[in-house]
Amino acid sequence: MVMAPQMRVLVCASQKGGSGKTTLAGHLAVQAERAGAGPVALIDTDPQGSLAKWWNVRAAETPYFIQSAFTQLFQDIEAARAQGIRLVVIDTPPAVTKAIAEVVSFADLVVVPTRPSPHDLRAVGPTVDIVEGKKKQMIFVLNAATARAKITMEAAIALSQHGTVAPVTVHNRLDFAASMIDGRTVMEVDPAGKSAAEIAQLWEYLETRLARLEGAHTTWVDDGARTGLLRNLNALGRSAPAFGRRAFP
Ligand SMILES: Nc1ncnc2c1ncn2[C@@H]1O[C@H](COP(=O)(O)OP(=O)(O)O)[C@@H](O)[C@H]1O
Ligand SMILES: [Mg+2]
Repeated sequence: MVMAPQMRVLVCASQKGGSGKTTLAGHLAVQAERAGAGPVALIDTDPQGSLAKWWNVRAAETPYFIQSAFTQLFQDIEAARAQGIRLVVIDTPPAVTKAIAEVVSFADLVVVPTRPSPHDLRAVGPTVDIVEGKKKQMIFVLNAATARAKITMEAAIALSQHGTVAPVTVHNRLDFAASMIDGRTVMEVDPAGKSAAEIAQLWEYLETRLARLEGAHTTWVDDGARTGLLRNLNALGRSAPAFGRRAFP
């Protein structure tokens, strides 16, 4: 019986298009790698493939990219775990409830980027419902906020009624969009800039949240009988039901 390496799955999800899922998925993956939390692997489950396209024009070899499909997610995540990946960051499509719920079921932590606008705030309900339905930990991240705007504080208060709001707000800056054109991130274009500092702080915060899951969550072991046959043990070492209440072959 081999103790599988500790790996976490971070899912960026929000039913609202344009909230920053893809931007944060790419940036957090790169930042986690830069901060020494790698190896990191990205998965894009959005049929539009924005994150995949970004990665394809990216020169750097890390983070890795896993070409996956909804039906392959479980196998691909387990393969990543077996290969020693320590963090998987998954980007999701907007609006397709069933697909998002499916992906969220693999998450250790769900990051819900939200723009501080009334329109975006009103749209968080269905996303919250999905994450709560899957009993997952969720963090709202205010994204594309205007500096010193009163609405950012109001949005944080509104969101806090639904769950935890990250203490780091990501502001609206051109470099978030511009840096991704050639497959980079704000940290790689201007490491000393404000945007890079925000992403570094955001990752630092999320890392502490992921670390808190330690112990409370399950440890995976490969019982060695055959690949794909994984059992999860709870903190007491007792056998627990199959992964995520789904039956896998
Ligand atoms: N903090 C930000 N500042 C400026 N532009 C941003 C920021 N976050 C996202 N964007 C831009 O907003 C658009 C939507 O972001 P994206 O990450 O693609 O959202 P989603 O994946 O949720 O649809 C993109 O053009 C992106 O470059
Ligand atoms: Mg996207």
